[in-house]
Amino acid sequence: MSGTSSLFSPEAGAALSTKGLTRVWGAFVANSDIDFALPTGARHALIGPNGAGKTTFINMLTGVLAPSSGQVFIGGEEVTGLSQEKRVAKGVARTFQINNLFPGLTVLESVLLAILERKGEGDRWFRPLRAYKPEIEEAMELIRDLGLEAQAGEETQRLAYGKQRLVEIALALATRPRILLLDEPAAGVPAGESAEVFSVIARLPREVSILFIEHDMDLVRRFSERITVLVAGKILTEGAPEEIMSDPRVREVYLGEGHD
Ligand SMILES: Nc1ncnc2c1ncn2[C@@H]1O[C@H](COP(=O)(O)OP(=O)(O)OP(=O)(O)O)[C@@H](O)[C@H]1O
Ligand SMILES: [Mg+2]
Repeated sequence: MSGTSSLFSPEAGAALSTKGLTRVWGAFVANSDIDFALPTGARHALIGPNGAGKTTFINMLTGVLAPSSGQVFIGGEEVTGLSQEKRVAKGVARTFQINNLFPGLTVLESVLLAILERKGEGDRWFRPLRAYKPEIEEAMELIRDLGLEAQAGEETQRLAYGKQRLVEIALALATRPRILLLDEPAAGVPAGESAEVFSVIARLPREVSILFIEHDMDLVRRFSERITVLVAGKILTEGAPEEIMSDPRVREVYLGEGHD
């Protein structure tokens, strides 16, 4: 992208940043003028009530949704007009709020397919299995990293939901991202297993900058180093967890709110 018409320059040192990012549907403003920077190596939480515009924001970062105005940068490069695929190639991966696994495949097959996609061989995987030794080794390493070794040969859809969510993270990681965007990675996971999902996320290498959406404040406190609070499409405040959790404005927003 040339970026010659840009009004703004990207935030220095940020893995990903936005300037004035806005999305409207008719008269409804879902995201309003969002300036945001995700520093390299970040463990950053995006929180806010239901309908605040969190998923909308991530959808604009990944290219699923076009902004009405504003800009998205990956590192120093503007990517606002780029497709989802092109952003993946530039190192952006995401998981969805809703389970998004391919039916019928085992954990190993799913991860292998994602690796072959990355290598541009997604449509050639009918070659004999032995032709894929390096890819299978890479897949198994990733599967081990995520604590899914015992499930490698099982169909993803038969796994406990917490394990399914870990497979989704494995698929995102198979693209070798520099930026990982997680939309409620523990959504739907029984309370006892959600910390496991986040422990695995916490062990990911620091080269991967992470932004995650999460409603459970206890998980947010334990696993984020910085928090952005989105309310009615606008950034209310941003800061360290202790600061945010004791902010009366944040408490007010959450008081009496039911969260799933
Ligand atoms: N395609 C669409 N057309 C019209 N309005 C939409 C569309 N997608 C989302 N919205 C609205 O934008 C607002 C923000 O939605 P979004 O999904 O980003 O919220 P969220 O913060 O992720 O909420 P949750 O915590 O419930 O996941 C909501 O009021 C939603 O109804
Ligand atoms: Mg959402």
